Amino acid sequence: MDYSIETLAFDKQQTDCVIISVYENKQLSPSAESIDKISQGFITQQIERGDIKGKNAETTLFNYIPDSSIERILVVGLGEKDKLTAKLFRKALKSAIAAIKALSIQSVNCALIDSDVKNKDNQWKVRQIVEVFNDNLYKYDETKSEKEPNLKLENIIINALDSEKELVERGLKYGLAISQGIGLTKFVADLPGNICTPSFLAEQAKMVAGKFKTMEVEVLEEKEIEELGMGSFLSVSRGSRQPAKLIVLNYQGGEKESKPVVIVGKGLTFDAGGISLKPGAGMDEMKYDMCGGASVLGTLQAAAKMELKINIVGIIPSSENMPDGDANKPGDVVTSMSGLTIEILNTDAEGRLILCDALTYAKKFNPEVVIDLATLTGACLVALGRVPSGILGNDDDLCNDLISAGDTACDSLWRLPLWEEYHEQLKSNFADLANIGGRDAGTITAACFLSRFTENYRWAHLDIAGTAWRTGANKGATGRPVALLSQYLIDKSDA
Ligand code: BES
Ligand code: MN
Ligand code: ZN
Repeated sequence: MDYSIETLAFDKQQTDCVIISVYENKQLSPSAESIDKISQGFITQQIERGDIKGKNAETTLFNYIPDSSIERILVVGLGEKDKLTAKLFRKALKSAIAAIKALSIQSVNCALIDSDVKNKDNQWKVRQIVEVFNDNLYKYDETKSEKEPNLKLENIIINALDSEKELVERGLKYGLAISQGIGLTKFVADLPGNICTPSFLAEQAKMVAGKFKTMEVEVLEEKEIEELGMGSFLSVSRGSRQPAKLIVLNYQGGEKESKPVVIVGKGLTFDAGGISLKPGAGMDEMKYDMCGGASVLGTLQAAAKMELKINIVGIIPSSENMPDGDANKPGDVVTSMSGLTIEILNTDAEGRLILCDALTYAKKFNPEVVIDLATLTGACLVALGRVPSGILGNDDDLCNDLISAGDTACDSLWRLPLWEEYHEQLKSNFADLANIGGRDAGTITAACFLSRFTENYRWAHLDIAGTAWRTGANKGATGRPVALLSQYLIDKSDA
């Protein structure tokens, strides 16, 4: 797909379809007005007839526009003008794209950046247009013998004012970088566990780093992981035939001495639960237990494409969690890289076992902040559903910055408390701490566990168990939270 910016008037352009918007109460957007003018009031007539109501996400297609060379117009309703929020804008965009997908056309001109979205500038709107288009044009067919017939659509042209060219060009650059990052994350996440193994993830990381002069990759093998003393991480991998990998990406976009943002992602390529085996129903979805790791890949790729002026380190501990004669057993005690001993009361609470060693390792990069991403607890789904990701951390500024980036990116977060009272639940009679904290507050006790390994830097943990993929008929990866992390990094790079 080719995206470009166009500043010419509609009657000087040649495209197969123009997307324009109208509001409720017969209010036209500037581009609807200009088409109305060149077509002798065609849009107003349709509104008067009641064919266009302007309700949010309503779409109406016209194949003939009097007195003009325009082939088609798609009119998208945005709802009430002074109530157009970022979410409603995205919703309207999504329905416009659904309508476009049904057409057999090659090029489309999207004139939706003239909509009045509350508190959002045109750079933001261009980014959203690119992101929502890309997200909705994504179709997984890697392991299907019948490939999706290629959409004829090749060119997406975004209409903008000449005076804003620089702003929207940057929106386009960022939008493309973020969308491609999201696309990479979704693609890797949707692959089945027999293809997407820890070794495969490591290869993907090498491929990403290979695209940029500013990025390096290092893959640590089990022997090196052992030498580092990561007894907790390796204990999970011991029950699997697939060798574990510790993947480290290093993006140098900033000054050499400037401290990096370190992003750690859970890369569990299949979580059967281990000896504490999971029930069969829905177990296939545990191929998505590497979504944190996939998001690290997508985010680093996006940051490098945007040429952000900061340093970023991505760390992905990657392993499977399988039942096996050599697997962890309930009651086993392991020693983490930090020296803390852990009693494994449930082998299915493995994410924290691989993350704790990666979080200890993160210290070596002298981090500005550390952010980890993990499909860590089913309890997060119970608490928050599939709308926001959960966030917990030991630094209010960091949490607030991430929450605000999430709002901007429409990739939201909701904070849960990480109070000392909860630490009680992790007490063990046989080790420094237990790996589970009982039924209550599962997302919080999981974060409490991690917090024992992040005491000497600023840290936030994102639980993406409810947001990294969709379940049901529309099952598939979402690419979250790449958009929010990209926004956080843009904010940091601009600051
Ligand atoms: N990967 C799962 C968490 C998960 C479950 C994410 C369902 C999304 C949907 C994690 O490794 C796990 O199994 N967690 C356990 C922890 C429990 C044993 C304390 C869980 O949530 O049941
Ligand atoms: Mn598990
Ligand atoms: Zn897991």
